[in-house]
Amino acid sequence: MNTQVAIIGSGPTGLLLGQLLTNQGINNVILEAKTKDYVLGRIRAGVLEQCTIDVLREAGASERMDKEGLVHNGFNLCFNNRYLRIPFTQLTDGKVVMIYGQTEVTRDLMEAREGTAATTVYEAANVQLHDYTSDSPRVTYEKDGEKHTIDCDFIAGCDGFHGPSRKSVPADEITEYEYEYPFGWLGLLADVPPVDDEVIYSHHEDGFALSSMRSKTRSRYYIQVPIDEKIEDWPEERFWKEFQRRLPAEAAAKLVTGPALEMSIAPLRSFICEPMQFSRLFLAGDSAHIVPPTGAKGLNLAAGDAKTLFEALKLHYGEGKDDLLNSYSDDCLDRVWKASRFSWWMTTLFHKFSENPFNRKIQQAELEYLVGSKAGQTTIAENFVGLD
Ligand code: APR
Ligand code: PHB
Repeated sequence: MNTQVAIIGSGPTGLLLGQLLTNQGINNVILEAKTKDYVLGRIRAGVLEQCTIDVLREAGASERMDKEGLVHNGFNLCFNNRYLRIPFTQLTDGKVVMIYGQTEVTRDLMEAREGTAATTVYEAANVQLHDYTSDSPRVTYEKDGEKHTIDCDFIAGCDGFHGPSRKSVPADEITEYEYEYPFGWLGLLADVPPVDDEVIYSHHEDGFALSSMRSKTRSRYYIQVPIDEKIEDWPEERFWKEFQRRLPAEAAAKLVTGPALEMSIAPLRSFICEPMQFSRLFLAGDSAHIVPPTGAKGLNLAAGDAKTLFEALKLHYGEGKDDLLNSYSDDCLDRVWKASRFSWWMTTLFHKFSENPFNRKIQQAELEYLVGSKAGQTTIAENFVGLD
């Protein structure tokens, strides 16, 4: 098989890149290790920044998002039973975010792709990258026991943190920066109305809690748990009790419980690799960087990479210019480090660290500072809606 861009991974990054390229008449093939249903079964975050909303519209995959997504103008930081509302639209000259689950974004992009002639190979086994430092890269894979080869111009490694793309780069050509937090998030999805119309990040002395939603009738709630916690130790009743305890009283009083549609524990990690380009191999999304979910930047960074790579490939094929391909890594990393800093900062401010009590006092002082400072609130607002 021959194509212009071989895309590895059919998460939101690979699908969005593929859709933008296909619409531009640039051929691409997506290779995905799992089945379509498996990919759609993953529950992830659900806060879309303006840039992400815009690029989904550009890709022609926004019809359902525009109909069903909830536009938000503010969110709440809670601590010591107090609310601090960050009216981010007001503080950022009108920017909004959209509440719309990543799973739905993925579904919409898959449907949009199915409406085109572009090829997607699900259950592609043993995907391997070859010769990406030459002018004729190749990707090989196995399907139903048969070996296949794709000859291409470029490889887009959109295969997440554990995929083969980043791992195929020699260790001395890549620098990896990593920080693992000593806790995880236990998440629960349920068809119950959310405790508040807006997202609540709650700082509690026993650990962080987050109230988010997918719709007016579906809630997504999280609590901080120790890193070695087992899901079997968290029957649903235990989750509800602990979640309610960590909310401010006003929200706790409105809690409606119901059967969990999904429950899972995710570790929190910050990770960035540099560079994100190796000759004709481009890393995008989680294959190049991971942020902790506090601040909901993961999907937005992924969409930013897809858009940046798309513009670079468009210039290459349209005008024969490689300026944007050559600056891809620098262009992305600037945005990625800034969002990673914000995610790390939000995580550090809101979680319980079993360290020195001095740190707790500093957390309290910082939260009190935010209450009294419009400048502090504006910093949070502009980072939350996404830096330009
Ligand atoms: N061969 C083919 N595909 C692979 C392989 C492989 N060896 N390894 C992994 N993949 C696929 C995965 O099965 C997955 O479907 O690559 C895809 C990567 O998708 P994601 O992990 O969703 O990563 P990405 O598309 O970059 O999306 C980033 O997801 O984790 C969140 O917070 C993150 O919201 C962000 C978004
Ligand atoms: C979510 O809706 O799942 C969500 C919202 C905000 C976050 C993380 C996750 O910071």
